Amino acid sequence: MKILKFVIASVFLALLILFLPSKEVRVRESFSDEFNGAYREEIVENGNVVDVDLVASEGEIELIDGSTTKVWSYNNSIPGPEIRLKLGDRLKINFRNDLLQETTIHFHGMRVPNQMDGVPGVTQDPIKPGESFVYNFVPKDPGTFWFHPHVRTSEQVERGLYGVIVVEDDFKYSQDRVLVLDDWRILENHQIDPRFNTPHDLSHDGRWGNLVTVNSSSNYKLEGSPGERVRLRFVNTSNGRVYNLDFGQLKPKVIAVDGMYVKEVFDANNFDLAPGNRIDVDVIIPEEGIYAIYDVFTRGQIRLVSIIAKGEKVDTASFSYPLNRDVPDWEGVDEVLVDHKYVLNAKVIDNSIKWMINDRAFPDHQTLNLNYNEFNKIRFRNDSSRLHPMHIHGQFFKVISRNGSLANESFFRDTVLIYPKETVEIGIVPLDKGNWVNHCHILEHAAAGMTTLISVE
Ligand code: C2O
Ligand code: CU
Repeated sequence: MKILKFVIASVFLALLILFLPSKEVRVRESFSDEFNGAYREEIVENGNVVDVDLVASEGEIELIDGSTTKVWSYNNSIPGPEIRLKLGDRLKINFRNDLLQETTIHFHGMRVPNQMDGVPGVTQDPIKPGESFVYNFVPKDPGTFWFHPHVRTSEQVERGLYGVIVVEDDFKYSQDRVLVLDDWRILENHQIDPRFNTPHDLSHDGRWGNLVTVNSSSNYKLEGSPGERVRLRFVNTSNGRVYNLDFGQLKPKVIAVDGMYVKEVFDANNFDLAPGNRIDVDVIIPEEGIYAIYDVFTRGQIRLVSIIAKGEKVDTASFSYPLNRDVPDWEGVDEVLVDHKYVLNAKVIDNSIKWMINDRAFPDHQTLNLNYNEFNKIRFRNDSSRLHPMHIHGQFFKVISRNGSLANESFFRDTVLIYPKETVEIGIVPLDKGNWVNHCHILEHAAAGMTTLISVE
């Protein structure tokens, strides 16, 4: 009898050990629960449709006082029309391509249905000159997003094709402003240098311009009354330039990164705003005076914005910061094994430089298959001596570590800047199915092959 009991007990125990998920599996499951708890997976439509007619065409703007520069733009403005909608609204963009080249529109940072992602050869056919396409979806997240072509991107974005989409929720800032940072390589005749993807740009950090603008102005001013609480939405649409903002005497707090609210606000000084990145900043306008915001990423500092505080002091809106308390902590994530590794490097092939991910230059690539709602730890190892802001379409991720030390980032991103020789690990739980590209947002690097695919099923 005793022996029988013993046998039954041991068989039971053995089965238990066999079928109980391992500690690693349980930890991973808890990580994906934590992650998707921070997301809105589906959004309830409110029945409202925001209809936008958008045309890409050639035109001109006054980039330099007193002269005109030929550009390509959406609806004849740079940035394109600021599209604002409320969370729950449907966005319908009736797009027409009046350029002489094919194009598409990609909605950077927005979780859209895969066929609305705007990637030629992956999610749609390129839109030919004279043709139209309707982009139609319901944004799932409030925040600051942008849109740009995904065909000959390094040329089309550089010529001025980009715009911002703000998905609003209801925080009552005194002012809510979009500030688009871009740089232009302008020749002496005040025209855009038509030499794109030069060997120099390809072998360095992409195309850096000689004129930096905010909303196409090299002398951008923002006025407000002392006491006003202002939301500034910075968007970096540059091909290659990274910004690092110095707010001087202002006391700015970051409330959102890449569109998504952070878990805890932090000082907005010293944040690397790489191509593609956005930060939303909450700042109170101080007493009367002029306050400058500089870019200090390079040695020469560049004045970007002058805030002119004047007039009667007004009461400061007193709501608490809009935060996402559910951004995961992933306690113990450093012990979880890495699932996928990307090595970033360049090679010279037939006299031209190719930027490679795991020794392949797009369209040559190896698709990474990820399962829906499953935690993955992905490592990017930059073997090159250039910068690579890596951007994954249709997903958000969280940086876990840099060069082996835990990163202190209490927020999601869609683009992470990887420094020369740096290793960055991210955690991701894909919640949107389809084929998504993963590429460097230095547009010249992407043009030279630095793109791969992630398939989520
Ligand atoms: Cu702004 Cu493929 O990205
Ligand atoms: Cu790169």
